[in-house]
Amino acid sequence: MGVTTVPSSDRRAAVSLFSRLRTAQGQADPFPVYEQLRARGDVSRAPWGGLLVTSFDLCDRIVRGREWLEPDKRWREQQGPGTRWNAPSSREMSSTLPALNPPDHTRVRRAAGAFDRATIERLGRTVSRVTDGLLDSLTERLRSGEADFAALVSEELPIAAIGDWLGLPAADFPRLRELTHDQVFTQELLPSASQLALSDAATAELRVYFMNLVRERRASPGDDPVSRWITTWDAMEPDRDKADEGVYFLALFVLLAALETTSTMLTTTALMLVERPEWWERLAARPELVPGFVEETLRYDAPTHVISRVASDDRTLGDVEVRKDEMVHLMVGAAHRDPARHADPDRFDPLRTPGHLAFSGGIHYCLGAPLARMEAHVMLRGLVARLPRLTLVRRPSWAPRVAFRRIQNLDVALA
Ligand code: HEM
Repeated sequence: MGVTTVPSSDRRAAVSLFSRLRTAQGQADPFPVYEQLRARGDVSRAPWGGLLVTSFDLCDRIVRGREWLEPDKRWREQQGPGTRWNAPSSREMSSTLPALNPPDHTRVRRAAGAFDRATIERLGRTVSRVTDGLLDSLTERLRSGEADFAALVSEELPIAAIGDWLGLPAADFPRLRELTHDQVFTQELLPSASQLALSDAATAELRVYFMNLVRERRASPGDDPVSRWITTWDAMEPDRDKADEGVYFLALFVLLAALETTSTMLTTTALMLVERPEWWERLAARPELVPGFVEETLRYDAPTHVISRVASDDRTLGDVEVRKDEMVHLMVGAAHRDPARHADPDRFDPLRTPGHLAFSGGIHYCLGAPLARMEAHVMLRGLVARLPRLTLVRRPSWAPRVAFRRIQNLDVALA
């Protein structure tokens, strides 16, 4: 099957769109760029190879379809030794849950378990307590002027929640958070060489940290997921070192997956609220509207704007030919504004039933979605119940990422 060639003018236009996406302005508002991407078609060729998908329906079908695979170890090795896919951090990620395909994925996902209702309720008590403390600090800071909601609340709550679940010492939280910010570059759409180097170093440090943790829990098991994973892996894997590695990869990925994404969701939710003062009183009076507000935030500006898959064989997507092993980038941030799926998609409307891919779909559906949602609900309920209306002091700034959104500050003051 032949590959459609891309006219050079079209390629230049696409390169220019992605350059714009990586500017401060493109990050503050990527949606006009997505609109132009969509104008190139539901499926278009990426300038660096592979395809870009902007249609909600196609993105939804791809995450659910068995014929689309994760870029796994075999695929990464095929890309060649000098490529980003074979950087040490990428090789390390190739053994984590979201880079596995069935049957390996099925086995590891089953062993990982899920957040049951009792666990969420127990973690909910921690999240409520921590949120109260963080809102106290925010209130205190606001008394003497402006406060950065992102630093004071959004960065703190996810690490407290996941740290409590995994049983990590609070003294380690700041370093783990820093390492996560660097590590994410290897999962970005187009990481630079220096970003990959940062990610490699962070990944190496995280390996030491989590391998030590696994050894400690093996020596003195407790009532925590890492100790339980050790028991599960020992039953599946007779080689102790391999079992320890399996547990390490899971603990590592859970931490990576839980931090930035959730912080971004919390900050974006707060931003949506301060920009819409009428919703402050409305949510305070009717807390049952809180989940809808959070879901609409996840649609309107999801923490993850790109999800990638590779084709398991030659096929067509829309009217574009895709070859086996070719990568497709699901432009989820754009798909969430697809007018074919959502009426008036640029309007933030917490009363719509959104339907979104913020947590992906199919077999890789986010394991931590119940925890992330619970954190957002507790934070938002606490915020509107405890604080008077806040206003934005200045526009926030976003890190120059494409796939993983990161709001660097949310400076607010009492209205
Ligand atoms: C708002 C917060 C979060 C967002 C937006 C988010 C988003 C995602 C997305 C998009 C995927 C799928 C990637 C793919 O299809 O290739 C995913 C997978 C995953 N997430 Fe989350 N996540 C969030 C929070 C969390 C939390 C709190 C945890 C852990 C407790 C977590 C653990 C995981 C794991 C383990 C996977 C891999 C699942 C698999 O491949 O089977 N996530 N997440």
